[in-house]
Amino acid sequence: MNRPNIVVVGSLNMDIVIEAARSPQMGETIMGKLAHFIPGGKGANQAVAAARLGADTKLIGAVGNDGFGFQLLQSLKNNGIDTNTVKQVDGISTGIASILLANRDNQIVVVSGANAECSVQDVERHETIIAQADVVLLQLEIPIETVMAAARIAKCHSKLVILNPAPACKLPKELLQLIDVLTPNRSELQLLTGLATQEGNLKEAMLSLKLQGVERIVTTLGSEGSAFLDEVGKIQFLPAHRVPVMDSTGAGDAFNAGLAYALAVKKSLAEAVDFASRVSALAVTKFGAQNGMPTRDEVEKFKVERD
Ligand code: RIB
Repeated sequence: MNRPNIVVVGSLNMDIVIEAARSPQMGETIMGKLAHFIPGGKGANQAVAAARLGADTKLIGAVGNDGFGFQLLQSLKNNGIDTNTVKQVDGISTGIASILLANRDNQIVVVSGANAECSVQDVERHETIIAQADVVLLQLEIPIETVMAAARIAKCHSKLVILNPAPACKLPKELLQLIDVLTPNRSELQLLTGLATQEGNLKEAMLSLKLQGVERIVTTLGSEGSAFLDEVGKIQFLPAHRVPVMDSTGAGDAFNAGLAYALAVKKSLAEAVDFASRVSALAVTKFGAQNGMPTRDEVEKFKVERD
């Protein structure tokens, strides 16, 4: 089987992860247990996950010309990802995410740094790479104009475009119309649609995005699993796999990469959501956003054990 080709356009961050017993109140200082400096960023996490699944993966992005930037590039290389499409920017620091891990959950604050320099010209310069992709995978930690340019170029070449709308922000209608698969979580769906999705109108919210031009919508629901609209507009639910959760950072990134991989190898949307939920379940059993990303063999073994 040929390796599917996935191009990710997105962020790279150094994750500064603090483990603590609880999160502090505003204005309070507490003592943490451990601190870690590990590679992260939604774009890089999704690229690493896609590469570990076996995709030929490229990441278009930007880092600073600094120590963190070099470490992030090295980590991509260690995962078999070509880093020629990651720009090194002078005079601006690499993106940083401050992550607090407490009570098996996380709080994240991102400072864009060089990610803000990932420009329209950068994606235009790499048009031939986008033209060779089976799937183009996007998120929102780089400028929205860059995301739009990547989606436009990808559609010009009839590529499948997946947008993970995280961190959440309102999206221009033109962008929605360029997206084949949108993958919000519950709160992102709420922000995108203005509909309170906690109150049982998940389907209404997802349909409202479809009416705005998004081809397919998959909503991730954390421990409740995921939901997607099938071809006839019926909502289908997939429960989450019960696994021991070590660190949920990057769970959404694992899901998106799994979905991209499965769609790139021409699985149906239902099969792709099932595959993605297994990738994500395995990812949260290990510490670190990228560290837990599973290989395709691990996903297949997990399927045999579970079914
Ligand atoms: O999705 C998880 C990622 O969000 C972290 O790795 C962090 O860098 C932030 O971008």
